[in-house]
Amino acid sequence: MNDSATHVMEYFANVIDSVGDGVIVLDNKGTITLMNPAAEEITGVSRRQAQESAFSAIFAGEDALREMVEKTSATGMTISDYENLAMKKGLHVIPVSATTSPLLMSDGERIGTILVLRDLTNIRELEEAVRKADRLSTLGTLAAGLAHEIKNPLGGIKGAAQLLERELPDGSELVEYIKVMLKEVGRVNKIVEELLNLTTPRKLKLDKINLNQILGEIVLLQKRAEHLNKISFLQSFDVSIPPFLADEALLTQLFLNLIKNAVEAVIEYKGSGTIKIITRVVSDYSLTKKGERPSRFVAIDVSDNGPGMDKDRIDHIFTPFFTTKSKGTGLGLAICQKIVSEHRGMIKVDSEAGKGTTFTAMLPLIL
Ligand SMILES: Nc1ncnc2c1ncn2[C@@H]1O[C@H](COP(=O)(O)OP(=O)(O)O)[C@@H](O)[C@H]1O
Ligand SMILES: [Mg+2]
Repeated sequence: MNDSATHVMEYFANVIDSVGDGVIVLDNKGTITLMNPAAEEITGVSRRQAQESAFSAIFAGEDALREMVEKTSATGMTISDYENLAMKKGLHVIPVSATTSPLLMSDGERIGTILVLRDLTNIRELEEAVRKADRLSTLGTLAAGLAHEIKNPLGGIKGAAQLLERELPDGSELVEYIKVMLKEVGRVNKIVEELLNLTTPRKLKLDKINLNQILGEIVLLQKRAEHLNKISFLQSFDVSIPPFLADEALLTQLFLNLIKNAVEAVIEYKGSGTIKIITRVVSDYSLTKKGERPSRFVAIDVSDNGPGMDKDRIDHIFTPFFTTKSKGTGLGLAICQKIVSEHRGMIKVDSEAGKGTTFTAMLPLIL
């Protein structure tokens, strides 16, 4: 090959390597001639392993993909599947979309097949989050009605108990009972307030916020709280996060809820532990849809080395009133989810029983 031809080849190899989707190129005999880093990442197969090998041998376990490739190579048709495909990647199965197209020379001669793969993990997670939010909103309407109905009689009970307290002769033992009544009324009131907080629609007060500063202050406050000398807080903040639009009060509530849960989890588990807070910018082009969803997110991880959770529990934690604590309301995470979705972000959890838990809130980076 002469010099300029080599340059052209290099140029195209660079272009393909830079594409975010996985690209695998086969010749007419079904041998893999090219594979970009994104394809390595998605399939878990290295280029070295794949190149010059038969596609059908390397991807022997992927029947659906092999069929698409064979069909395109036999007929020259382009085939796409955005819905039904999953690929084995190590021990995991990940959802993918795939398109196979013929590789054509300028004179129309077919010299191979191109397979383009996209990892749909994040998109599927987002869809799941939307489904959950839908479920919540039905429940929410019901709960909001109930909360309003409870608030008035509750006020009546509180007023009556206070009157009764005043009427009792000094030193009466009955005062203790009234104290219990008032305390329990206070508790119900708190639940109702949280519930209303969860279910009433509201407008965000958007300002440019400094995320790292907000988190830093929360952590500082936590460190000062007395019982917390049993917990070490680690923080790793990405200093490149610019100020972005968000509701500071709500985000504070979000982080406080997550940190409070982490504290409660490690204290309950071993009496002490570590809580790590990480901020970072995530560019995820697979989440960008028709220009409506911003492609850059700020991710905030709150990790603890507490008891962790099994899959069954994870399925329930965002449901209002789900709690495993004797004094819990079960509303903390439901509120977190609401705050995040009001910001058009998402929240996910990664947890393993016996190891610990990481909650990740992803907020769109709107400048
Ligand atoms: N960091 C965590 N580690 C282990 N379990 C957790 C963690 N955070 C939340 N959970 C589980 O999720 C449940 C719901 O949490 P939440 O909605 O905040 O309500 P509450 O804290 O009042 O129980 C908790 O009762 C607990 O079982
Ligand atoms: Mg909680």
